[in-house]
Amino acid sequence: MSLTPTPADKFTFGLWTVGWQARDPFGDATRAPLDPVRSVNELAARGAYGVTFHDDDLIPFGSDEAARNGHIHRFKKALEETGMKVPMATTNLFTHPVFKDGALTSNDRDIRRFALSKAMRNIDLAAELGAQIYVCWGGREGAESDGAKDAYVALERYREGFNILGAYVKDKGYDIKFAIEPKPNEPRGDIFLPTIGHALAFINTLDNPEMVGVNPEVGHEQMAGLNFVHGIAQALWQGKLFHIDLNGQHGPKFDQDLVFGHGDLKSAFFLVDLLERYNYQGPKHFDYKPARTEDDAGVWESATANMRTYLALKERALAFRKDPRVIDAMKASRIDQLEVPTLAAGESWRDLGDASFDVELAGARGYGYEKIDQLALEHLMGVKAE
Ligand code: GCO
Ligand code: MN
Ligand code: MN
Repeated sequence: MSLTPTPADKFTFGLWTVGWQARDPFGDATRAPLDPVRSVNELAARGAYGVTFHDDDLIPFGSDEAARNGHIHRFKKALEETGMKVPMATTNLFTHPVFKDGALTSNDRDIRRFALSKAMRNIDLAAELGAQIYVCWGGREGAESDGAKDAYVALERYREGFNILGAYVKDKGYDIKFAIEPKPNEPRGDIFLPTIGHALAFINTLDNPEMVGVNPEVGHEQMAGLNFVHGIAQALWQGKLFHIDLNGQHGPKFDQDLVFGHGDLKSAFFLVDLLERYNYQGPKHFDYKPARTEDDAGVWESATANMRTYLALKERALAFRKDPRVIDAMKASRIDQLEVPTLAAGESWRDLGDASFDVELAGARGYGYEKIDQLALEHLMGVKAE
């Protein structure tokens, strides 16, 4: 299998990822600004399928109408020339000081109204560019102190905000769905809808829940100490995995945004295995930050690294699943039996309580999972079968 990415792999990148100038809380930018047109060209040359953007990545905040049109025109031209797509867009509701206490959940009503208009304006552009997913990451929707914000009422306003945006998309007749991106903290001390599970439960309270899914990010769930593979399995199982942010993270600490696989590699392996087995069809979107140590060449090196890692893991996962030793070990572990419904056709709870079941024997029997885990690691490391 080739590790050279092609558009058929559906790899996408946020303009803000490769375009990150590496300004952090402790230091200045280490890289020059990147023209979005150049990002489109460079990523296309490396086999990506498309790009995604926040309104402000493309059109600097406060641009007048003429400047706005100019930025959009150049961008569209680059897309046409390269065949690159824009499957997703999003709103920056976190950089400008006006959003320092949140956007859809700001205590200030005028700010909530401004935030919704800003989102609606960019939804128009997203529709024009053919995006079908609109991501909502509520980075500033949260608090540092529980006395500062009524978390109960904030959820009410958050819901109202999503209902307004849903009505907007319906009234305009756009073919767009929303994807909520959970994150536990950073930049706020605590962010509302901190995990996949919180977001899924919230979606069920909306006026149009079918229009809203999730955009989970590898590092965000791991920052919360959670198993990303399990979170993605649940999102898939509930038909809610509308989009995904792939990157790398080493356990619960600040949001590292490493290259995909450059954090918890074993989890990345089982993630790709899951996405491929359950035929996830959406874009594979990299939301990472090229390390601050890198120059321009390093930026593009890291962009390619994300895609190669995904393809390499896909190849390893397929080899793992096809290996007769793995097939036998899984059979011995009775993994296939989980697919058998607990009650047979026509049975009810009345049929439970089989007197012949040997509880001691069942308790003593080993499952053999260590063997499977080691085989997975050996496939991941490229150890040849002996
Ligand atoms: C982060 C988030 C963002 C969002 C982006 C799209 O931790 O900074 O992951 O990168 O994904 O704003 O909404
Ligand atoms: Mn992140
Ligand atoms: Mn993200």
